[in-house]
Amino acid sequence: MPFHEEELEAAESAHLHSITAAEAEGDERAVEAALRPRTLDEVVGQVRVRDQLGLVLEAARQRGRAPDHVLLSGPPGLGKTTLAMIIAQEMGAPLRLTSGPAITHAGDLAAILSGMNEGDVLFVDEIHRMSRPAEEMLYMAMEDFRVDVVIGKGPGATAIPLEIPPFTLVGATTRSGLLPGPLRDRFGFTAHLEFYEPEELDLIVQRSARLLGVDVRADGTAEIASRSRGTPRIANRLLRRVRDYAQVRADGIVTLPVAHAALDLYEVDQLGLDRLDRAVIDVLCRRFGGGPVGVSTLAVAVGEERETVEEVAEPFLVRNGFLARTPRGRVATAAAWRHLDLDPPPAPTLPTGDATLFEE
Ligand SMILES: Nc1ncnc2c1ncn2[C@@H]1O[C@H](COP(=O)(O)OP(=O)(O)O)[C@@H](O)[C@H]1O
Ligand SMILES: [Mg+2]
Repeated sequence: MPFHEEELEAAESAHLHSITAAEAEGDERAVEAALRPRTLDEVVGQVRVRDQLGLVLEAARQRGRAPDHVLLSGPPGLGKTTLAMIIAQEMGAPLRLTSGPAITHAGDLAAILSGMNEGDVLFVDEIHRMSRPAEEMLYMAMEDFRVDVVIGKGPGATAIPLEIPPFTLVGATTRSGLLPGPLRDRFGFTAHLEFYEPEELDLIVQRSARLLGVDVRADGTAEIASRSRGTPRIANRLLRRVRDYAQVRADGIVTLPVAHAALDLYEVDQLGLDRLDRAVIDVLCRRFGGGPVGVSTLAVAVGEERETVEEVAEPFLVRNGFLARTPRGRVATAAAWRHLDLDPPPAPTLPTGDATLFEE
């Protein structure tokens, strides 16, 4: 059974290789594990989630009971897996790890649940990707600490009730909208993780530098933080690339000029846009006059798969106001033109009236 963290994120990140991808890459998991905060106190930022979760755990400890089930939702790289591990750690409970895609049959889940002890924490990453029958079994387990295991097939099949000791489910999802209501409702506490402020990312970079033994200057870490797209995973990755540069091309110290030169070399610009992000807005402005243009055309023009443009580049560009999705196609905003040092066209770039944003 896949109870190893390394295996968990492999599937979701297999197709992403950009330096600013929010998903972890293969060789990155070991170093990430070393950088993870171990306690709630070590967690930087997410103040509200930390306070609320701290209270939930403290109350459970006082009652001597397993805490309510916890749902962690938010974009990749913001600390969901980290928090799941902290929950177990703070409760002094063993953590069992699995993921939605690994649970293809209800039987897989039954096997996991039947091996649980009282107070164990079960972490289901990407919980929105679990199969339907497994999901239904999970509702029952969450609410009644009981499941029906079906033995055999057809008319001879029998359901054997199985008691499960009280446990805590921690689910993580990047797409809480895809979770069926009944499942969402069975979590006693839901934490929405938000993107981090540059000052928070700066603290994270400083902490990671300390753990990795990298010599940093304040302006160097601030520079890395400001190009990290609000995402700790990216901040930690950029720190490692800047460290390489500092070691090979400078005196090993991460200063502002070193961070600048390194990030320029890796094509991560001042606002955290990478080569693909810039190619998308560049083509949109220079070749298509700012749009609207269909995403497939845009993808061909930058020489990428449509999925890559949609899933890797666009979310960041949309969130940061460089690109809008309209019914007639993608449109560059004035901010995009300015970022390329171009003058926005005199007429408003964004069509008014029918400019309702939507997902294609
Ligand atoms: N609040 C935080 N403080 C410090 N480091 C963090 C924080 N959140 C995430 N990280 C770092 O970012 C990396 C990715 O976090 P992770 O929990 O794996 O994200 P997710 O599961 O949401 O994709 C971890 O290695 C961890 O070191
Ligand atoms: Mg994770």
